[in-house]
Amino acid sequence: MQHFVIVGILVIVMAVLTYVGLDSAGLMPVQASAQAVSIDWLWNWQVVAMSFLFALIFVPLVYSLVVFRRRKGETGDGEHIEGNTNLEITWTVLPLFLVLAFAYMGAYSLGEINRVDPDAIEIKVRGQQFSWTFEYPEYGIVSTELHLPVDQQVVLLMESSDVIHSFWVPEFRVKQDVVPGRVTRYRITPTLIGDYKVRCAELCGMSHYKMENPVIVDAQVDYDAWIAEQTAIAAAAQTPEAIGQLLTVKNGCIGCHSIDGSKLVGPSWLGTYGSVREFADGTSAVADDAYITQSIREPLAHEVAGFSPSSMPPYTALTDEEIANIIAYLKTLK
Ligand code: CUA
Repeated sequence: MQHFVIVGILVIVMAVLTYVGLDSAGLMPVQASAQAVSIDWLWNWQVVAMSFLFALIFVPLVYSLVVFRRRKGETGDGEHIEGNTNLEITWTVLPLFLVLAFAYMGAYSLGEINRVDPDAIEIKVRGQQFSWTFEYPEYGIVSTELHLPVDQQVVLLMESSDVIHSFWVPEFRVKQDVVPGRVTRYRITPTLIGDYKVRCAELCGMSHYKMENPVIVDAQVDYDAWIAEQTAIAAAAQTPEAIGQLLTVKNGCIGCHSIDGSKLVGPSWLGTYGSVREFADGTSAVADDAYITQSIREPLAHEVAGFSPSSMPPYTALTDEEIANIIAYLKTLK
């Protein structure tokens, strides 16, 4: 009996110490959304359960090893114990209730996360190898930055151009796959003004790790200012060059092609138009309209030395006019 009391006290002490240690380790990034509250609540109770179960296994194990060790001169066998019905009922029923409790808490938390605000702002998200594009249909804005107003629910309508990606902002906690041929929804109410990052959380190819775009939670006045600025830029885009530039944002081209000469997944566009392209097989060609059109529609046609053409999906949906606009834009990058 005395052993049970000592072990019982040690289990409680160990559980508390484990919980305090895990809690102060700062495992979670800052909490920046209304949805994060119920997730963190659930997570906290899971850490409590984990700490207790860890102590429940660790303490009796170490206690037995130390207190009931074979001492000098002891040669007999240990006591033979066969079955204990009460113990078996206890360790079946208690975990059953624990699992049921967590099932209820999980369902409650899921319900909180999916709580719909009918006034939620709709933003379209496109995932493509290897960047994200955000479209504000209400304003005709396309951007590579996701700006969100604080304390206002948004619903992201997400599509993929190629393979499965996953939209994840750790500070918001919620994560959602982006699947080709489907529109998936991601509902979030940012509660903390700040700069975050969306990361792709699904291995989607060689440059999966580069699929990061800025997510900026603005005060309402800053959000309105950004919308006004972007609307003006979109409205001013009347020339082929300006339309072409917007198309390279909208189609995610600039996720892989820099305009300043730096090497990303694909060749930089700086000075590309009219230059001689060296191919991996030793041949070369001049980057004229025909070459660029073919490279957009059939990236596998040529392998530029130092790059893998299979990193780029074929952009067959672009019209001749759109490609002409993009080429007009490329010509300006000297
Ligand atoms: Cu997209 Cu990983």
